[in-house]
Amino acid sequence: MTDSTPSLGPKSTLLANQEPSSDTPNLPQTGAAGPPTSTGSKRKFVYIGLGLAAILAIALGVGLGVGLKKKGSGSDGEKSSGDERKTNLPALELVKGPEGDWKAVLGGLDPEWAPHYAKAAALVKTWTTLEKVNVTTGIGWSQGPCVGNTGTAPGLGSICLQDGPLGIRFAPLVTVFPAALTTAATFNKDLLFLRGQALGREAREKGVNVLLGPCIGPLGLFPEGGRNWESFGADPYLQGVGGRLTVRGIQGEGVIANAKHYVGNEQELFRRRDEGRNAGWGLDGPISSVLGSADLRETWAWPFQEVVEEGVGSIMCAYNSVNGSQSCSNSYLLNEVLKGEMGFQGFVVSDWLAQDTEAEVSANAGLDMTMPGEKHSFTAGDSFFGAELTAAVVKGEVSQARLNDMVLRIVATHFKLSQDSPSYPRPNFSSWFRRSHGPAYVGAGDNAPGQIILPLNANIDVRGNHSSLARQIASEGTVLLRNENSPNSTLGLPLGKKKVLNLALFGSAAGPNPNGPNSCTDRACNRGALGQGWGSGSVDYTRFITPLESIQSRLYAPLSSDPPAGLFDFTLDDTNRDLLRQKAVAMQEVNGTCLVFVTSDSGEGYGSSEGHAGDRNDLELWHGGAEMVLTVATHCRDTVVVIHAVGAVNLEPFEGHPNVTAILHAHLPGQEHGSSLTPLLFGDEEPSGRLPYTIFKKEGDYPRIEKEANGRVPQSDLRGMAAFDYRNVTSEEQEKTVRYPFGFGLDYHPDPITISDVEVKEEFKPIRFWANGGNSSTASPVTIPDRDLRKEPFTAPKGWRFIKNYIYPYLPAAPKREDITTGPSANLTTRALPVKPRKVLEVTATLKNPSSKARMAVPQLYVTFPGGKGRNLRGFEKVRVEAGGEEVVKFGVSEREVSRWNVGRNQWEVREGRYRVEVMMDSLGRGGRKEVEWRGEY
Ligand code: BGC
Repeated sequence: MTDSTPSLGPKSTLLANQEPSSDTPNLPQTGAAGPPTSTGSKRKFVYIGLGLAAILAIALGVGLGVGLKKKGSGSDGEKSSGDERKTNLPALELVKGPEGDWKAVLGGLDPEWAPHYAKAAALVKTWTTLEKVNVTTGIGWSQGPCVGNTGTAPGLGSICLQDGPLGIRFAPLVTVFPAALTTAATFNKDLLFLRGQALGREAREKGVNVLLGPCIGPLGLFPEGGRNWESFGADPYLQGVGGRLTVRGIQGEGVIANAKHYVGNEQELFRRRDEGRNAGWGLDGPISSVLGSADLRETWAWPFQEVVEEGVGSIMCAYNSVNGSQSCSNSYLLNEVLKGEMGFQGFVVSDWLAQDTEAEVSANAGLDMTMPGEKHSFTAGDSFFGAELTAAVVKGEVSQARLNDMVLRIVATHFKLSQDSPSYPRPNFSSWFRRSHGPAYVGAGDNAPGQIILPLNANIDVRGNHSSLARQIASEGTVLLRNENSPNSTLGLPLGKKKVLNLALFGSAAGPNPNGPNSCTDRACNRGALGQGWGSGSVDYTRFITPLESIQSRLYAPLSSDPPAGLFDFTLDDTNRDLLRQKAVAMQEVNGTCLVFVTSDSGEGYGSSEGHAGDRNDLELWHGGAEMVLTVATHCRDTVVVIHAVGAVNLEPFEGHPNVTAILHAHLPGQEHGSSLTPLLFGDEEPSGRLPYTIFKKEGDYPRIEKEANGRVPQSDLRGMAAFDYRNVTSEEQEKTVRYPFGFGLDYHPDPITISDVEVKEEFKPIRFWANGGNSSTASPVTIPDRDLRKEPFTAPKGWRFIKNYIYPYLPAAPKREDITTGPSANLTTRALPVKPRKVLEVTATLKNPSSKARMAVPQLYVTFPGGKGRNLRGFEKVRVEAGGEEVVKFGVSEREVSRWNVGRNQWEVREGRYRVEVMMDSLGRGGRKEVEWRGEY
């Protein structure tokens, strides 16, 4: 954040020390008209506006305190009435983004996509305007089997869009995979790909065309952010690799992947104006993330760039606004950056009910499909597309060329993924009921005229052998943070080293949810073992194995190498201190081990659990977890803590306790909960997970979400916040604030694997400026000639029976001939394809395993830019190193990975100077560190 920038609220103290972002204070740039929804105010006016707002607020006796973040305030927004809040909200002027006349960009130039565009064009040119509009518009919430269903056109059935990032939502007999966060914690690229592949296979077999994942935003800037677990950890590079490999896996099965949420969607509170408790605030719009232009490229949009390069078929624009313009009507984000610079060839679909502007605004801003169809509420029967898009085309507000491009993007993606193959299944499940037959149009109501009953649920089991993959991911995504592993100690893990195994389990999280694992809507409760967070990213369990079950079956069917089984006990009550104490004392008397299970949960903003409305209120363990650990540890010399959580938690209350002999963080393991944990506990498998985020000591060391509306359109100023998590730990002083760094994880051996002989080879001399998404291009993509709209039908056929709340493209009455535009298509542009970054550096290092057992290592490559201090992850590998052996590991670094975004030139820049290249075992170099300097030149 620059000095001259009035803060919208204090951020973490740590963040004040980071290296200045390359783009602040360059936002916004000069230019004329803003994106369609912006008013085009310039920076100085913004500041004047902010100043006036401050004066006004103070004059009102309110003070800007209303608009400022209070560190640790933890307000849950439920204490005061909405009306009070409304009067108190300052009229904070919106910070706007870069300004310019961003034209819609035609797809189809990319040679990999061109044949599919050509095939699509041949089909789409036979369609009427009504048929084209139909394909861009959802038919309404619950009017078809999937969470999103498009209208149809000849030769193209309805497209089924279904969540989500860790499995197929609302469907039976599917695998509940570990969350993306857990998968990121494996740091295993094969597993990232295989999970994507398995997700794709299950989606296809269920008849899903577009799988609504991977989630690569939120990036996890705020550890309290409710949906961080749906994506791949607190680093853009890691998110990029996770997203890319998942897309590769999903699309390899012929399913269109949907990367979401573009962009800056870092918190749940205020993400939608009227959602849940947001309603009480009287907001004028969703929260606006204020993003700088360079930070956008280098951080927030980085993973999206990666998936675009991978050929992702669709991208979901987010609920939040960015720089004052809602993400789905933000021409700069969609036309300029995504389709122009990045060269995205697929289609942009709105998040569900996220579109909040008229057809002409959002269509011209680059939105290609609206979902689930309605404007602001489910089953309301209205739409910003549908008939309103038809009307906009008739009037010429949306050109035929733009409508054609919207449709071509959708249909070309359909062909690219070969979804026209007759073997591609139609949906064989209903999201809305589990009985075999039921209403086709649930959103219309059971007795609505025209309602029909169909056999929708075929109960096809699509799980194959995926439970073993799910189990392996959950196991490898478990991070051993601490362990008493001095050579002759029998304390800590693994349990296999005990002479006699006396064992007690503590905590409700070791056992089942008494009402069953699917008893809470979209998993919005934290009862029993925690396998997923809540919201649209959750999936119904067909199988769920708790730790209690799997540990018991392991004890009752012991392998010969196990220690003789002794006492076994379990207490699933978290808060009965007397009981906990008694059991801990009894275990201590027999020198037993106490396993304490603790959790912390979060989810999507429409749901709430135990007072956490999506985002977490704080990072404390739930159900008095810290007190439970302390109660047990006070009496039990060998207390092992097992955490299942959505991210970082406060470990400080028991971290230094001498009787806490091990801490395992198992993230969200999905269905293979106990079955992934037990082999690790017993030592059949070694923990090999690494933290995909940093655990700091104090809550004040993390950035916090906006918990109070600081204006009628709340703003979250993310400028200068791009270097978060480990990237902001740049001094010894700051290192002291870290409890466990990003990339950290132990195994059961005391001697660390070492790193030596780091070498950097320059493949070619980098060019200083290299463009991404060039200027306008003269190449001609496939286009479709305009039709004579005066000859088109625009109303429903005679005698058409409308289904209640279903969204149609029909106009209520035929437009007058003179009102129909005859003007030519306009306002679209072509852009040169982006340059694919080449590999500029090859880095090698040697790993040595001093122990007598083969082990997994996760060497990580970090680059520090000239003049900068913060490290940037630029590579990782998971490598097996044989007992006493050596392994050479190789990383390729691309031009983009050593570039910064130059705002003035709108280009990537390889800056001159010394780059520090480090291969380390975590982001702070614990357990091995080696660095070399590479001098970039031009
Ligand atoms: C979520 C999306 C999800 C969609 C459909 C929205 O609430 O933000 O991630 O894909 O619902 O369920």
